[in-house]
Amino acid sequence: MIDWVESRTGLVSALKDFLTEDVPGGASYWYVFGSATLIVLTVQIVTGIILCFYYSPSSWTAWESTQFIYRNVWGGSFLISLHYWGASAMIILMSMHLLQVLVFGSYKKPRELQWVVGVLLFFIVLSMGLTGYLLPWDLNAYFATQVAINIAASVPIIGPFIYHFLSDGSTLGTLTLGRFFGLHVWATPAAIIGLVGLHLFIFRHNSSAGPPADEAPVTFGRFYPNQIFMDTVASVLAFAIIVVLAFVMPAPLLAKADPNNAQFIPAPAWYFYALYGLLRMFPQNLSLLPTVILPGLFTMVLLLLPWLDRNPHRSLARRPFTVPFVILSVALLIGITVYSAKIIGDEIAKSPVGQTPVEGYGAPPSQESVPTIALTYPQTAAAGPVGATVFAQNCASCHGAAGKGTPGSFPPLDGNPFVTGDPNKVIGAVMHGMKGPIVVNGVSFSGAIPMPSWSSKLSPAEVAAVVTYIRSAWGNHASAVTEAQVKAISK
Ligand code: HEC
Repeated sequence: MIDWVESRTGLVSALKDFLTEDVPGGASYWYVFGSATLIVLTVQIVTGIILCFYYSPSSWTAWESTQFIYRNVWGGSFLISLHYWGASAMIILMSMHLLQVLVFGSYKKPRELQWVVGVLLFFIVLSMGLTGYLLPWDLNAYFATQVAINIAASVPIIGPFIYHFLSDGSTLGTLTLGRFFGLHVWATPAAIIGLVGLHLFIFRHNSSAGPPADEAPVTFGRFYPNQIFMDTVASVLAFAIIVVLAFVMPAPLLAKADPNNAQFIPAPAWYFYALYGLLRMFPQNLSLLPTVILPGLFTMVLLLLPWLDRNPHRSLARRPFTVPFVILSVALLIGITVYSAKIIGDEIAKSPVGQTPVEGYGAPPSQESVPTIALTYPQTAAAGPVGATVFAQNCASCHGAAGKGTPGSFPPLDGNPFVTGDPNKVIGAVMHGMKGPIVVNGVSFSGAIPMPSWSSKLSPAEVAAVVTYIRSAWGNHASAVTEAQVKAISK
């Protein structure tokens, strides 16, 4: 039977070939991170496919179908939680793998391209985290993604394209979900599987790099059974940790996304905390540094490392700075992450809405007692409910729920002297749109996506209400605007 298959496919000898690989210097637990990442990737693919059986990407069904998985699918909460913790596990294991390769100097000649493919995989997996974050369509998914998209919009030149591509409209909605869903379940996984294949193919071509020494190793271990055994131990351990976490701390699902919820403070996934912290460390007029320049530099250095590091030696004695450098960078990253976690935690604690989940870890045991959070934008006496609603539906996506804007691209309306100044000029800006750049309180806004013209989309009464709203909401105290004033300007 085996001979029959072998003579027709060559699969048996290919498998033997695959398993009888030598491991220079002997098998080691140092080498388990790559294969453990691969196993967790498999967990993500399997759980992801099952989630697709139930999930439905639209703004009317995304949250509802997610809640359906928690409540009505057998083992649904566990399934979602495996996928949720699996994402974190992948990022941790992948980082460990990267650090091991870094310390061992395994990225050096002839393995430069294997390193480059690995670094690409690292960033693609991070983008998986970003696109997956929106899919549950709860408050956190919605507002954290809004922040991410606005940051992308502030990138010079290509920002507007990224913005339009990702959001597919001027506000986040079903089209946005479709984009993220397509990226998350088709485009990115296809890229990951292709690159993992390439990564392994190049690995087999060069064979394992072995310990960090300059002399060729004299002893050899066997891939099967020695290294496979250690890989299995590590993968089972990683899987066990994910399973325990999924049981003990099921993934939280907050209340359904509500663009009108002005008080909600979103939290990004923990692996983006460091970026968030950087963003907060720099003043607004230097916002390009944390959003574009530093991450870009970091990416370039990682990608080009095999060529930037001209030291041909792999032995650690001849690379005295490697270990201190790695320890310092990791400590810095953890430091910024902890610092951001504190900022985010403090902001959430101050917000009246908080992050109490409806499902998962921290959700109240009795589902019936969950209050539906239906906070609308705080109305202002002058503008009434119409002003708040028009603002929530048309303006908040760029200028922010609290009128604070987005660094670099969208100006704040709160505390903005133009907004509280000559009412006719404000009406004009809203009616006819604007083309950047503008300067508000000394900070320049390049208008990645310019201010749209609203004269054809809003009635004069609505324009009057929203202009009155932005002039009287938050800390602003300027006069109301009437429909007659708007009509006079549109003539
Ligand atoms: C697509 C994003 C976007 C939306 C949606 C949007 N704006 Fe703007 N807005 C901008 C940008 C960008 C500017 C800065 C000028 C420029 O670069 O075009 C701006 C400028 C303004 C200004 C002038 C501020 C100043 O200091 O000169 C006002 C007032 C304003 N917007 C009000 C509104 C109102 C009211 C709405 C909703 C009806 C709204 N905006 C919707 C992007 C937007």
